[in-house]
Amino acid sequence: MNIRKVMVVGAGFMGSGIAQVAAAAGFAVTMQDIKNEFIQKGLTTIEKNLKNSITKGKLSEEEKNSILDRITPTVDLSLAKDCDVVIEVIFENKQAKTELFKKLEELCPPEVIFASNTSSIPITELAASTRRPARFAGMHFFSPVPVMKLVEVIRGLKTSEETAVTIKELAEKFGKVPVYVKDGPGFLVNRVNAALRNEVYRCLAEGVATIEDIDKALKFGLNHPMGPFELGDFVGLEIGLAVAETLWENFKDPKWAPSLILKKMVASGDLGRKTGKGWYDYTSGEKKPRTDLNF
Ligand SMILES: NC(=O)c1ccc[n+]([C@@H]2O[C@H](COP(=O)([O-])OP(=O)(O)OC[C@H]3O[C@@H](n4cnc5c(N)ncnc54)[C@H](O)[C@@H]3O)[C@@H](O)[C@H]2O)c1
Repeated sequence: MNIRKVMVVGAGFMGSGIAQVAAAAGFAVTMQDIKNEFIQKGLTTIEKNLKNSITKGKLSEEEKNSILDRITPTVDLSLAKDCDVVIEVIFENKQAKTELFKKLEELCPPEVIFASNTSSIPITELAASTRRPARFAGMHFFSPVPVMKLVEVIRGLKTSEETAVTIKELAEKFGKVPVYVKDGPGFLVNRVNAALRNEVYRCLAEGVATIEDIDKALKFGLNHPMGPFELGDFVGLEIGLAVAETLWENFKDPKWAPSLILKKMVASGDLGRKTGKGWYDYTSGEKKPRTDLNF
């Protein structure tokens, strides 16, 4: 299917990134959110990213302006009816997402493809809230969207081959590297990363190595660009815990039991960079080891 117009619903951290890469790839993009202030915030993020690219010599002022011109910001969801694909990027809440898809189902002609950027909600369940489960897929981007290349194309139980191929080709046109993944808890990357993190927390609890040395070891031994604790602080510890809980609830296998250390950290309110403290302390403006934690 030939996609010309893309609708992005939700102009937050991920949605604004998706709108940016779609517009940069030459697509006409409608970026919708529930309030003008959220749309404005999304546009400001996109402008900031594009200005950074100009500073680095990767983009011209003209290109920046034409990317921004291709984005139509709106609070009007009904504009979805004129788009070929709708990418849902709202809060990670199943009820909010299913209510949105029910509204979109009424607005959009049956040939419009729906895609969700959910990180943990089964695609088959979201697809079942519509009358078009064959034209429904997961399109799971990684943060920050303009930088990270991977897109997991998630096939729900009834996602058609044509829909999967269309979403894969769309991701390629956005300059991304797509992989097909079957619907399942944590999809692929979050599942594998959760297993690695659980082992890392066990090593920390057993005193095998310190937080700083575990990060160093994985960066310089496995060539990971960030250590697992640094990455956890970047993404937010509560998000890592939510993924761990999804895997545990679905598999009920002790290997997926969420780490007690991680649970304590989230309960303490130290969620990473956004709260100033997580596995590291950022309150001085620099990343410093913590000396105040009793695991
Ligand atoms: N943050 C990440 O690293 C990451 C990575 C991959 C996937 N995701 C997934 O992407 C989705 C969005 O995450 P985010 O980090 O961008 O969240 P966010 O909180 O930054 O943005 C969500 C946006 O959705 C808007 N919104 C909420 N309800 C809406 C509705 N009914 N209609 C239109 N807009 C609505 C909000 O106003 C907000 O601007 C979630 O499903 C999340 O699990 C996040």
